[in-house]
Amino acid sequence: MLELPPLGLYVHIPWCVRKCPYCDFNSHERPGAGIPEAAYVEALCGEIALNKKIRLIETVFFGGGTPSLFQPESFARLHGRLAERKCLAPEAEITLEANPGTAEAGRFAAYRAAGINRLSIGVQSFDDAALARLGRIHGGADARAAFTIAREAGFDNINLDLMFGLPRQSQSQALRDLETAIALAPEHISWYQLTLEPNTVFWRRPPRLPPERLIDTAQEAGIALLESAGYARYEVSAFARPGKACRHNLNYWRFGDYLGIGAGAHGKLTDPAADRIIRTRKTRMPSHYLAAAEKTMTSEVAHGERPLEYLMNTLRLREGFAPADFERRTGIAFDAIGEKLECLRRDGLLEGDGNTIRASARGYRLLDSLLGKL
Ligand SMILES: C[S@@+](CC[C@H](N)C(=O)[O-])C[C@H]1O[C@@H](n2cnc3c(N)ncnc32)[C@H](O)[C@@H]1O
Ligand code: SF4
Repeated sequence: MLELPPLGLYVHIPWCVRKCPYCDFNSHERPGAGIPEAAYVEALCGEIALNKKIRLIETVFFGGGTPSLFQPESFARLHGRLAERKCLAPEAEITLEANPGTAEAGRFAAYRAAGINRLSIGVQSFDDAALARLGRIHGGADARAAFTIAREAGFDNINLDLMFGLPRQSQSQALRDLETAIALAPEHISWYQLTLEPNTVFWRRPPRLPPERLIDTAQEAGIALLESAGYARYEVSAFARPGKACRHNLNYWRFGDYLGIGAGAHGKLTDPAADRIIRTRKTRMPSHYLAAAEKTMTSEVAHGERPLEYLMNTLRLREGFAPADFERRTGIAFDAIGEKLECLRRDGLLEGDGNTIRASARGYRLLDSLLGKL
């Protein structure tokens, strides 16, 4: 039987100062006439009002794009709207993505006052030459300053986003970025391998990346470095101090529910009474989103698709999943996938006892091919 999972709220802010050549997120260079911030916040408030029966929201994530381009008052307004509707859990985790090139001391303190209690700073690298090759608007010193400003503003829960496998990056340069991050002592580090995505400048004109073999050894060394510094790898690219995993992202990976508002945002909602799981998607282009009276497209996750969707999320987690949880989140009997999983266990790609199932160390290294076999 399907059960109602915890609910998160994702709010998309689709503008940046400059479009990075590797980025395929729904982000657009800010218009010359300026970002229509007031109209956009109005539209977001309208979406919150439209959701008639919001249950308790346990996490909020303002992602982008570059949400730190928006004024603190805008977040205070959205926070106020949620509070009015009494749908925000008292201990809600509320994250804002910030770009070091847009960090200002006054703003960060005002974000904190507006209810934001977790910052995710897009550092990417501390190396000026690497940042220039990535087309970033900030340097290594700006990234370190952004972290200090955030701490001084009272943020005690900070994530740093870093990438590796960068154009012309050696293993020691990749590890130096991690050492610099670790020395700052954030609560959380996301360490992504740079991927070349269709519809990006890097896809059309690929930079010279390190050979895959070197990237793999750098990754193994980086994981060991992070773990020895007390950052446990709880998801493929996510590392956290004890108790500091990102609750919002954990809810995605555990196949929880989320509302998605703002241009191009995705959502997932479970309706146990009707035995339905619905996906929602908002109009993608910011100008169309602002103009459209009806901004939401919906589709249903068919019964047959649910197991794979569930496994593609939960097997990314080091903890894996429990069979009873599979049944609660998909509404499908575990027996339906038992035999398939048993084959993967015999191949050494999965492990676990009766209570939990997760990728083995080998399965985790070969996660893409494991998921492919599913
Ligand atoms: C939604 S982005 C926004 C963060 C923020 N706008 C910034 O760039 O500072 C979140 C993170 O995804 C990662 N990312 C973006 N494009 C990527 C790519 N092509 N390969 C790997 N990681 C990527 C970056 O680390 C980035 O900080
Ligand atoms: S700042 Fe972030 S969201 Fe914007 S283009 Fe660059 S990577 Fe993408």
